[in-house]
Amino acid sequence: MARLVIVSNRVAGPRERTVRAGGVAVALREALRRQGGIWFGWSGDVVEAAASTPHLHESGAVTTATLDLDARDHDDFYLGYANATLWPLFHYRLGLMDFRREAFAGYLRVNERFAAALVPLLRPDDVVWIHDYHFIPLAAALRARGVANRIGFFLHIPFPAPEVLATLPDHEVLIEALRAYDLIGLQTTGDAEALAAAMAGTQAAVGPAWTTSPTIASFPIGIDVDGFAELAEQAVQSRESRQLAASLAGRALVIGVDRLDYSKGLPLRFDAFEALLAGHPGHRRRVTYLQIAPISRGGVPEYRKLRRELDQRAGRINGRYSDVDWTPIRYLNRVSSRAALAGYYRLSRVGFVTPIRDGMNLVAKEFIAAQDPADPGVLVLSRFAGAAAELEDALIVNPMDVERVAAALDRALTMPLAERQERWRRLVAAMRRNDEAAWRNGFLAALDAAPRAPGGVQSSSAA
Ligand code: G6P
Repeated sequence: MARLVIVSNRVAGPRERTVRAGGVAVALREALRRQGGIWFGWSGDVVEAAASTPHLHESGAVTTATLDLDARDHDDFYLGYANATLWPLFHYRLGLMDFRREAFAGYLRVNERFAAALVPLLRPDDVVWIHDYHFIPLAAALRARGVANRIGFFLHIPFPAPEVLATLPDHEVLIEALRAYDLIGLQTTGDAEALAAAMAGTQAAVGPAWTTSPTIASFPIGIDVDGFAELAEQAVQSRESRQLAASLAGRALVIGVDRLDYSKGLPLRFDAFEALLAGHPGHRRRVTYLQIAPISRGGVPEYRKLRRELDQRAGRINGRYSDVDWTPIRYLNRVSSRAALAGYYRLSRVGFVTPIRDGMNLVAKEFIAAQDPADPGVLVLSRFAGAAAELEDALIVNPMDVERVAAALDRALTMPLAERQERWRRLVAAMRRNDEAAWRNGFLAALDAAPRAPGGVQSSSAA
């Protein structure tokens, strides 16, 4: 089997057990553990002078190779272009997009630097799999250095409609760079269609011209359903889970778990929970909403603003509805282990997953996998999460419609057992069709079968 070289901005160490790095890191670690190879990316460190050669760390068949960033690269590449330009744009938040030409230059510079450091690690038959919006131009930078390997790209976040993409100055440069891949994978057919339309509508006018077009297809990311179910079954017996269960004193638990990110729709979600208490007063004192939201990207101003907003909102709602022995919202910024979360999901009556836009959302899938089949909870899911395309038997909501989301919560909290079981069975069946192995194997098989992109830069005049 060819060696796998995975590139992603976050590289999780072999023992990392928290969700700090998101579900993506978990799926990638599993892919590498099975096949062996290199995991290449950012060390997570910002240093005064970053070395040009990566830190190498071997653990079994997996070598991690990581580069540091200096403060300027961190500002321009990570805080700037990746997370203040591409992230809001790709999540349809045009008003939050901050385009600065120096940041774009820094993004391209860091991609060049990472390409230069990766080339010496590559063997001719390695399969290279690049992940996410931080590294869109990486394959083009590798091809320019003569790399002829198979190179695939998977975008974990949504891809915007062409009219939305067009608001980004110089978006043609990104589209052109994408042509250097043999295969591009997206989460949903909608994302794949949006990318295909953007590529068809953008002339190959900038940069090098490629003689083939990449294959574009959707590969919805999934989870190891049985593995997560087992984790939940054990974790629910743990001290943390028993403490949580005891503290509920028989009340129903609604749970949300998200990085503290404006794409997750948290202010509206708090409003919807308040609308439940206001409009369906029978639930007062009978339900507790636990929102776990670890701080994320605190260096980006918009994230700091969101944090202040949520602090206020949780305080206001709790001030209004709490009783001496009941607090409606428990709002935590702490990071929890995957195992602890699995146990909490199993204790919950409702999974509350209402992003305004989300590539997939693995919390939705993990919540379902964690349920007790004899007495399963109900998933309330935003139609704007990639997962909604598969999880049709969840209660699908529009997160902008606060009253209807409150009504869906009410329905979830009062749903009869037989309906909960029937919906849960269908949701699990859907998740098994697109599980973690299907995602990984499907992408790698398609990469193997994809027609090859040219092995080097072809200038239009030389063609
Ligand atoms: C999302 C992105 C990942 C990213 C993660 C955590 O899941 O798709 O690429 O790693 O968020 O964000 P952070 O900025 O902390 O890496």
